[in-house]
Amino acid sequence: MDLSTNYLGLRLANPLMPGASPLVDSIDTVKQLEDAGAGAIVMHSLFEEQIAGEQLGTIYQMEMYANSFAEAQSYFPDAKDFAMGPEQYLEHIRRIKQAVKIPVIASLNGTTLGGWIDYAKQIAQAGADALELNVYHVATDPVETSDQLEQRVLDVARNIRNSISIPLSVKLSPFFSSLPNLCCRLDDLKVDGLVLFNRFYQPDIDLELLEAVPKLALSDPSDLLLRLRWLAILSPHVQASLAVSGGVHSGTDAIKAIMTGASAVQMVSALLIHGPAHLGKVLAQMKEWMEQNEYSSVRLMQGSMSLSRCPDAHAFERANYMRVLQSWRTSPGASPAGV
Ligand SMILES: Cc1cc2nc3c(=O)[nH]c(=O)nc-3n(C[C@H](O)[C@H](O)[C@H](O)COP(=O)(O)O)c2cc1C
Repeated sequence: MDLSTNYLGLRLANPLMPGASPLVDSIDTVKQLEDAGAGAIVMHSLFEEQIAGEQLGTIYQMEMYANSFAEAQSYFPDAKDFAMGPEQYLEHIRRIKQAVKIPVIASLNGTTLGGWIDYAKQIAQAGADALELNVYHVATDPVETSDQLEQRVLDVARNIRNSISIPLSVKLSPFFSSLPNLCCRLDDLKVDGLVLFNRFYQPDIDLELLEAVPKLALSDPSDLLLRLRWLAILSPHVQASLAVSGGVHSGTDAIKAIMTGASAVQMVSALLIHGPAHLGKVLAQMKEWMEQNEYSSVRLMQGSMSLSRCPDAHAFERANYMRVLQSWRTSPGASPAGV
């Protein structure tokens, strides 16, 4: 059985990999992930704010991590390990490269044009095999138009694209007015890959203290559905290879993402909950499913359920919206109160 895949022009033994997170901050964990069968390693992000010497954005602060993951604590690095400055980050790339044979994908996280972009070159020089650019941004300025915002994403991507020769992927959020248009414009810039999607971390309100509380919840497989829809819609239109990030917890989750067009499958929450060896289990589940369903390679499955090849393409589009709502009302046992 051939599980190999081509992601960002890199030939990987299989599509599974840890997504960007502090999971790979310990070299021991990195080796465990390679032993479990990871096709590549994605590092946590180095943030524009860190490079610019500013305070880290609240969502990534360690107190929040520490308080958020009762179920995942044993796989969580200490705060001191995660607070990695730019120089340490480059050093960590070198250490991971020495420790494993699989490709290492570094991650930069930023949204404005500025000096931090030069770090892309240093990341490439430190030996990273590819770079993932995360353009996490919450639009809060009513004066900035969606066009201006998208232009900023494109400008940052173009600058980085022009400054490095290693493959570049862009990790997006789903919240753009026309995602296919933005993705095609990123494609025109010769970006090698798109990662779907960032998860937005949504603060809660503490009613006692009257404070906004940063909250980061781990995903579950229901997060995957949004990704499947967009993989299916985008994959026939873009040259860039697609990675799924969000909601992959099992082998069948991974298969669905591949069938809708992903060439790489990133996992974070599942690995934080169950540990690095879980990647090996997901790989085994994938193989078992493929054997039972007589697929001899990942390549054969890839994109077989994309919008252009899916037997019921309407399921991904608006036409099905009405049908689904109506079927709820007419299905036996559906209560009007549930609508
Ligand atoms: C603790 C934690 C740290 C993360 N750090 C980063 C990061 O540094 N850069 C990034 O692009 N995404 C980061 N993410 C987002 C993940 O890469 C991923 O997109 C998200 O968790 C959805 O995937 P999942 O459902 O497999 O968890 C982080 C997620 C978690 C849970």
